[in-house]
Amino acid sequence: MKILITAGPTREALDPVRYLSNRSSGKMGYALAEAARDAGHDVVLVTGPVSITPPDKVQVVRVESAAEMFEAVRTHLSACDVAIFAAAVADYRPAEVAPQKIKKATDELVLHLVRTPDILGSARGEFGFKGVLVGFAAETTDLIAHAQDKCLRKRCDLIVANDVSQPGIGFDSSDNAVTLCFADGTVEPIAQASKSAIARGIVTVVERLQKHRDSARD
Ligand code: C5P
Repeated sequence: MKILITAGPTREALDPVRYLSNRSSGKMGYALAEAARDAGHDVVLVTGPVSITPPDKVQVVRVESAAEMFEAVRTHLSACDVAIFAAAVADYRPAEVAPQKIKKATDELVLHLVRTPDILGSARGEFGFKGVLVGFAAETTDLIAHAQDKCLRKRCDLIVANDVSQPGIGFDSSDNAVTLCFADGTVEPIAQASKSAIARGIVTVVERLQKHRDSARD
């Protein structure tokens, strides 16, 4: 199969030297890319700026902002059977990018932010993607309810729900513990393990979803 994976944070420029971003390390997305490659799949890894090295033998597309990630996904999605959106895309960007470095001329500075494009939410509609669609949901409250709601709204096959309020897992750590929330309402927990082990589990589940989709078409 050909699998598109988004990973890492995005950076939303304020001026030529500053940006808004988040603490995503890219580890979960990169582990997914490695697990998918090891399972024999072709991988396109659309990645925001991270400090880790991408796995060998995957096609790497580097982007900075949410808008660039949106365009890269638009370009590559139609050739893919599966898309896994593990990137922590910034929800807002500065309304304007100052052409020069902003000077500290005042005691207060108010930033005007506007929404970034919803890449996962554009997959089915605007991009016309018909393959297996997987999103992530990082929540601190009502994890499963939010994930199930997101699964329906974004027309995903699966949402990987991540409780980011628990110490030692999730953002920036090597371990994770997730709950898989499927489109039919079923849930499947994956206990705390390395992001590599979790990634292998997710790839196996995605292969199962793809088989069902194929047999439903026959
Ligand atoms: O709504 P929320 O940001 O929690 O959704 C998270 C999921 O949506 C992740 O799979 C993330 O990669 C994706 N996402 C996206 N584009 C955005 C925001 C989130 O693809 N602008």
